[in-house]
Amino acid sequence: MATPITKAVIPVAGLGTRFLPATKAMPKEMLPVVDKPAIQYVVEEAVAAGLSDVLMITGRNKTALENHFDKVGELEQALLSKGDAEKLEKVKFSTDLADVHYVRQGDPMGLGHAVLRSKMHVGREPFAVLLGDDIIDERDVLLKRMLKVQQKRNTTVVALLEVDPSQTHLYGIATVEPTGDDDVVRVTGMVEKPAPGDAPSNLAVIGRYVLRPEIFEILESTPPGKGGEIQLTDALQALATGPEWAGGVHGVIFRGRRYDTGDRLDYLKAIVQLAVDRVDLGPEFRPWLVEFAAELDDRS
Ligand code: UTP
Repeated sequence: MATPITKAVIPVAGLGTRFLPATKAMPKEMLPVVDKPAIQYVVEEAVAAGLSDVLMITGRNKTALENHFDKVGELEQALLSKGDAEKLEKVKFSTDLADVHYVRQGDPMGLGHAVLRSKMHVGREPFAVLLGDDIIDERDVLLKRMLKVQQKRNTTVVALLEVDPSQTHLYGIATVEPTGDDDVVRVTGMVEKPAPGDAPSNLAVIGRYVLRPEIFEILESTPPGKGGEIQLTDALQALATGPEWAGGVHGVIFRGRRYDTGDRLDYLKAIVQLAVDRVDLGPEFRPWLVEFAAELDDRS
């Protein structure tokens, strides 16, 4: 029987250079998306999928992250004395959300290296990895489906999103074969950020993975790849083409809404897309946005 999955690993140690100077003294995962930091959406997703044991792989500037998921006594006291129960609830929510642990990465030597730092905490169980700057809209299911596929097939599972061919050089790209399930494919190969024109497909690996503990041994012997970093994609490629015991790799094709908040343009789109549907902000924001868009049309 497959081992149940209880742990989520969230790497948040990247330098976030695409978002400088905002990320000079603050991790990009703490940038607000409407009124919550991106990382809170990711932790909420893990918890909703049943993974409340969360390990964050942090780097410099981890204080803001730790504080966000910790109790802030003076703030709670101030809200309590003002009688502002609604805001107090919001503050307490992120404190009580999950059992959050931290380990430091030291030098940010790549996503593969960050994942390897979770070895002691994870042990010999399968586990999920969620990238802290990648938000999956809570109205669209992905992680729960991936966990189910992992439990059924007992393999490594990645999330795949069809992207425009002009975007393939920004992602790990998979070569796949069909399975009996409409949304599940077998991954036969993977390449990190292929040069334009060299991509074997337009199926991009996005920031959700369900890994088996064998990944640690593979990462330990994975040499630095693209950009001189230890790439998770290279280890997954070894698994996809490796020996039978390693179980291979499957992909769940995601057709829902995903926001890459580490990219400035996607970040702006995420805020607008999430805000228009908010019951507290949407009714005022929507008509303003429509009027603003019409004005933009007039300008061009
Ligand atoms: P990215 O490649 O998007 O992060 O990594 P980055 O390097 O911070 O981004 P830019 O290009 O400089 O703006 C994806 C995820 O992996 C984490 C990041 O924090 C992000 O959540 N990561 C990346 C690490 O934890 N450690 C690393 O060494 C690299």
